[in-house]
Amino acid sequence: MKTFADKYTLLNGMTIPGMGFGTYNPKGGDSVEMVRTAIRAGYRYFDTASLYETERALGQAVKESGIPREDFFLVSKVWIDEMGYEETRVALHRTLERLQTDYLDLYLIHWPRRIEGDTDWKQIDLDTWRAMEEMKKEGLIRGLGLSNFLPHHLDNILENGTEKPLVDQLEIHPGYSQEAAVSYCKSKGIVVQAWSPLGRSRILENEFFQALAKKYNKSAAQICLRFLIQKDIIPLVKSANFERMKENQNIFDFEISREDMQMLECMPQDTWLGEHPDFHIPKKTCNLNQ
Ligand SMILES: NC(=O)c1ccc[n+]([C@@H]2O[C@H](COP(=O)([O-])OP(=O)(O)OC[C@H]3O[C@@H](n4cnc5c(N)ncnc54)[C@H](OP(=O)(O)O)[C@@H]3O)[C@@H](O)[C@H]2O)c1
Repeated sequence: MKTFADKYTLLNGMTIPGMGFGTYNPKGGDSVEMVRTAIRAGYRYFDTASLYETERALGQAVKESGIPREDFFLVSKVWIDEMGYEETRVALHRTLERLQTDYLDLYLIHWPRRIEGDTDWKQIDLDTWRAMEEMKKEGLIRGLGLSNFLPHHLDNILENGTEKPLVDQLEIHPGYSQEAAVSYCKSKGIVVQAWSPLGRSRILENEFFQALAKKYNKSAAQICLRFLIQKDIIPLVKSANFERMKENQNIFDFEISREDMQMLECMPQDTWLGEHPDFHIPKKTCNLNQ
């Protein structure tokens, strides 16, 4: 990625912007205003999920913008309690209605397991995937992807699905770089996306980051995002503030040295947010009446 406007090409030939905007849990709670501001700041790739309760706000802000739908890249996800063949079909229609659109650019399985220790997760993932494959054929989705899938979860889809997953969305930031999952995805041609690329801003106060920020004359947030860009990972960053939205795009005029990249990759793994696809599954339910 050389500029904010650059795109990656996915396995099915479609292109995807190199940076996306996250919509989870906006500060102040006004998602419509946050997305309006993000559109004004130049973002076109928006990440949402039925779990976040921001699909309706995103749909409204996109519609109001007057910008053609095809200029946007809209991604949503099927939550744990919407998984299964029939349930996923219903869930996607709910998502499309809330987003006021007749197609998604990508639809992702949000989490590979519904509860810890379940024994039927492989079958549930495949039933969900089959529904997604069908709805792609019906023109309701352009491409299919995954989120929080580790190599053993990915293999189930790769070996038994018809469509190949195009992306995998994982928690990634310095201090939690998930090298094993990232290199496995890359070996299969799956583009990796980073959720919570700033570790929800927890890591920005770290002394090492502060020193790097000074060295490169950038902010700690820009160091985090540039780190991901240099690893060919798509950051999905969120901010409710216009200046920070622009600051987060301004990361294409410098390069982090190899040595500093290596140090960032090897930072202590102490900024993990505490959710794990197999062992710490979020106990959250999706609000069907949002
Ligand atoms: N697939 C999944 O399971 C999953 C899970 C979690 C999140 N996600 C996705 O990933 C997106 C991003 O993750 P996130 O929202 O958890 O966290 P994040 O983007 O890592 O951090 C957001 C926080 O950083 C602050 N921030 C943003 N830019 C900044 C800057 N330049 N300087 C200082 N602070 C800055 C924001 O505050 P201000 O608003 O005040 O700027 C906000 O509090 C989500 O919105 C969601 O779309 C996916």
